[in-house]
Amino acid sequence: MNRSRIEPQELEVLDLALDLASRAGAIQRARYETDFDVRTKSASIDLVTEVDRECEALIVEAIQNARPDDGILAEEGGGHDASASGWRWIIDPLDGTTNFAHGFPRFCVSIGVEFQGERAVAVVYDPLLDEMFHAVRGAGAWLGSRQLSVSDTRDLGQALVATGFAYDVHESLDDNLARFAQVLKAARGIRRDGSAALDLCYVAAGRLDAYWEFKLHPWDVAAGCLIVEEAAGRVTNAAGGPVPPSGDEIVASNAHLHAAILDRMKT
Ligand code: IPD
Ligand code: CA
Ligand code: CA
Repeated sequence: MNRSRIEPQELEVLDLALDLASRAGAIQRARYETDFDVRTKSASIDLVTEVDRECEALIVEAIQNARPDDGILAEEGGGHDASASGWRWIIDPLDGTTNFAHGFPRFCVSIGVEFQGERAVAVVYDPLLDEMFHAVRGAGAWLGSRQLSVSDTRDLGQALVATGFAYDVHESLDDNLARFAQVLKAARGIRRDGSAALDLCYVAAGRLDAYWEFKLHPWDVAAGCLIVEEAAGRVTNAAGGPVPPSGDEIVASNAHLHAAILDRMKT
């Protein structure tokens, strides 16, 4: 990333986000496959571990100390959403909690930062692979020192696509299964890896050609959306419009496949 072309304010935010993602990631790496407390939240399959809470506490406390005027929206409830500075941090301290709890090696720290309501800075860190995805609006998306760009796949039949299922899947009839079947029958392959933030980064990196999911939350997508956009990908809702601030309903692709994926979202 050409740091000389980034505004000093953005650079300060980026450097803090990189440092916090790295420190929270180190906790996850150290606690992975050890004994930790696991509880349920909204449903019996919606988990939170003490590592989620520990990582969130570290990130929130550091932001409050360094930038007390910034707003913070964090998944496990830390921080104050109101911002006096125009900057707002949206944090998923551990995205992929089910994987983490089962020792399945796919989870990350996700930190997205908005300035005056616009996505400005994004960091997603996979601690096991030591992969630091990051982006600044207008300065590209990067994996370490490598600039990212989406795949060139133009045929859904040659596409690797990912999705996910919400924690109400046992009870809800709006369960994504019809869309899953429609994409399964058209794409080269389909994955359900269990980390929305990494799924989005993988679209940005060209490892996946597209990803969609419904019933997500702001912290699942705040960082990943900017990383996809800065890698020349496209993110919309299922109707092709802007992703809602709630994060609920996201379709991400390499742009070439967007119309084809949106078409498969119709049930
Ligand atoms: C979840 C993961 C998963 C997605 C769920 C998310 P969490 O986040 O991103 O891939 O399918 O919808 O809630 O609970 O592990 O932070
Ligand atoms: Ca999440
Ligand atoms: Ca989480």
